Amino acid sequence: MIKTAALDINDDNTNNSSSSNEMVVTPWEVKGKVDYDRLIKEFGTQPLTSQLLKRIETHTDNKLHLQLERKIFFSHRDLDTTLELYEKGTKFVLYTGRGPSGPVHIGHLVPWIFTLHLQQTFKTRLYFQITDDEKYLVNDERDLKETTKWSYENALDLIALGFKPEDTFIIYNTKDIDLLYDITLEVAKRITYSTARSSFGFQDSTNIGWVYWAAIQAAPCFIHKKLTGENVPALIPAAIDQDPYWRVTRDVAQKLGYHKPAQIHCRFLPGLGTGGKMSASMPETSIFTTDQPNDVKKKIWGAYTGGKPTAAEQRKTGANPQICSIYQYYHYIFEEDPTKLKEREHKCTTGEILCGECKKDITEKLNKFLEAHQERREKAKNIIEQYHIKR
Ligand code: TYM
Repeated sequence: MIKTAALDINDDNTNNSSSSNEMVVTPWEVKGKVDYDRLIKEFGTQPLTSQLLKRIETHTDNKLHLQLERKIFFSHRDLDTTLELYEKGTKFVLYTGRGPSGPVHIGHLVPWIFTLHLQQTFKTRLYFQITDDEKYLVNDERDLKETTKWSYENALDLIALGFKPEDTFIIYNTKDIDLLYDITLEVAKRITYSTARSSFGFQDSTNIGWVYWAAIQAAPCFIHKKLTGENVPALIPAAIDQDPYWRVTRDVAQKLGYHKPAQIHCRFLPGLGTGGKMSASMPETSIFTTDQPNDVKKKIWGAYTGGKPTAAEQRKTGANPQICSIYQYYHYIFEEDPTKLKEREHKCTTGEILCGECKKDITEKLNKFLEAHQERREKAKNIIEQYHIKR
């Protein structure tokens, strides 16, 4: 059984309530081998079909973004309807976010890079919610001051990716709750406790802040109308772990006179260990945007690969890129050229290259990327205020 709701919730990403092999995909925990086809079935989402990809292509100069081409984004809800409306002249806005529990890792950048592509292609606004309140509520140990500090740090990463202030509106939940509050009330009034419990797995011991909280992640789906008077759909690019929020939000949207928010879901960039997603709670298997060259080298060197026990054996029989955490880095972000990616895969499976070579190459690519990102992150400190949502 897929656990779609966190049971025995006491900490995001550190929940030990399930056996190690069981697939768990909730907004707070992703564990085990993720079966994306099963998620589509059990979450009730739609696969991104080749027909729909062709339709997207007509808006993107007949060229698909790498994350679509490689099926990293693999599922959706109402993307077709949103495109149909767009083609008839109704715009959409983008909405995504971050739970500031610590530094941003490369996995978080996956949906944000795609969001930037959508923003530039469709010339849309982005609402970006930073949920310091959520990260405080879901962890008994965590202090609100700590999550608020990470809100600032994480916003710098978003800005460093190249989002423009004219079209990007960051919502810091505890600072901006006045903007959201009336919408959260509208939403919360229409979600029963029974729906919330079955969607999120709440228990008698769950604090009531957490129970209400789903309404706060729902609110930015509808904020554009409040700010501008325009009633347009929101399209949410995010990994599929956030889906339970959208299910409850979609249930109430039309009752409140809004469009149902649409989603496009991505897979998880795995950690550098043997399974599960990259997660800030496992720093040794995550590359953070603030890591220094030596940290990167050390983590990559210790990474799990699809290699053989000895170099001689690998030269003879080849390795398995499909289970290799390093190969995923090339696949998700760091090898844009499909021919070069294929070549690397071929050389790996035929034993022409060994894991050390791939590790050395990815360390160089990562450090080059991080050096430039960290420079832009520093510069973002001077302009961060321009991105703060205005009343
Ligand atoms: P958070 O901080 O857990 O994650 C931020 C975004 O990153 C995605 N994600 C990943 N994507 C690919 N590979 C990974 N290893 C990986 N790990 C995380 C998440 O799906 C998310 O898109 N509650 C949210 C914050 C939030 C939000 C939103 C997210 C508020 N409103 C709207 C998406 C859309 C959270 O804690 O995200």
